[in-house]
Amino acid sequence: MKPDRPLRVAILGATGAVGQRFVALLSNHPWFDVTRVAASERSAGKTYREACRWLVPSQMPEGIAPLIVSDLTASDDIDLAFSALTADVAGDVELTWARVGVPVFSNARNHRMEPDVPLMIPEVNPDHLGLIPGQSKARGFPASGFLVTNANCSATFLAMALAPLHRTFGVELVSVVTMQAVSGAGYPGLSELDISGNVIPFISGEEEKLESETQKILGAQRNGAIDPADLRVSAQVNRVPVADGHLESVSVKLRNTATLDAVREALQSFSGAPQSEGLPSAPNRPIVVLDEPDRPQPKLDVDRENGMATFVGGLRPCNVLDYKMTVLGHNTLRGAAGGSILNAELAVARGLIGGAA
Ligand SMILES: NC(=O)c1ccc[n+]([C@@H]2O[C@H](COP(=O)([O-])OP(=O)(O)OC[C@H]3O[C@@H](n4cnc5c(N)ncnc54)[C@H](OP(=O)(O)O)[C@@H]3O)[C@@H](O)[C@H]2O)c1
Repeated sequence: MKPDRPLRVAILGATGAVGQRFVALLSNHPWFDVTRVAASERSAGKTYREACRWLVPSQMPEGIAPLIVSDLTASDDIDLAFSALTADVAGDVELTWARVGVPVFSNARNHRMEPDVPLMIPEVNPDHLGLIPGQSKARGFPASGFLVTNANCSATFLAMALAPLHRTFGVELVSVVTMQAVSGAGYPGLSELDISGNVIPFISGEEEKLESETQKILGAQRNGAIDPADLRVSAQVNRVPVADGHLESVSVKLRNTATLDAVREALQSFSGAPQSEGLPSAPNRPIVVLDEPDRPQPKLDVDRENGMATFVGGLRPCNVLDYKMTVLGHNTLRGAAGGSILNAELAVARGLIGGAA
């Protein structure tokens, strides 16, 4: 279930908003040992402390601060790489690492919708790891090299909340309106003059990601390919002046009739492979259902469960579809670095990396 030695980890894009979350989360990880931090030419050659404007609300880990930031050249002295690179560079760089035999766990959008690449939420679709042998073979990677992606942060929380409903009752139609935190735009992100006291009703490409990624995540793996889930999503997105946490107003139409109590029970009792296999970064409960009518709220709830749970509140009947609810998740933790680490933990536990003992 766990590796027989500490696994050497590279963080690609280690200096950015998501990269820093990787650094913080991996500083005391029981399985993973960060041996390389890599970023752009602007940062390469500096110590991590010099290269990085630290944004995480905890001290920069002492063991990482003196590491020299490298460029992104792939090397095979690494057991797995986490990519927190921006999409303009991630696509090609991630392939160069997989080609030298390194498993890459990416946060970038580039490879998410490729048919042989798992788009993972371990509680929802652990069987999508079954794409990996075929991917490595078809792309000519060494057997140890492959790509796994995690979803767009808003799609992650939407798919997590829909998964138990889809599994139990079938989901047919979804309407989602998001209110997304500024940290989702990376660092330094938006100008304060643009976002302070304001709402921006557009994030490039985000609606399309919510609509298509949700279908792939909830899809079924058959014979090395994913059949997208037969449901339709209509998404509208907004950037709001909140530091961390994406809030989503969601309405769903179910295929089979369900009482409000049954819907609530399906959400509350949802659990998956990370919980049953005791993965180190797994939240106790992947979905936390809140009963107070004014919750979840980013300020009050987003850091609970180490930022790894999806919070669902305001569950009630909908006059147009069947039920509506409010969904919240931490965009740089479960929606990015934490989700990617959980993906890697599952891959290790399933014997895909480093020979699990
Ligand atoms: N923020 C979120 O909530 C969130 C959630 C889910 C997924 N994501 C995805 O995660 C990825 C990282 O996002 P972020 O918010 O952390 O972005 P960010 O703060 O802008 O950080 C980008 C990182 O990529 C490096 N980089 C940028 N341009 C480069 C280049 N030309 N060559 C080499 N390295 C380069 C930067 O290095 P330097 O510091 O040296 O420039 C930095 O380490 C993106 O693909 C994003 O879509 C973000």
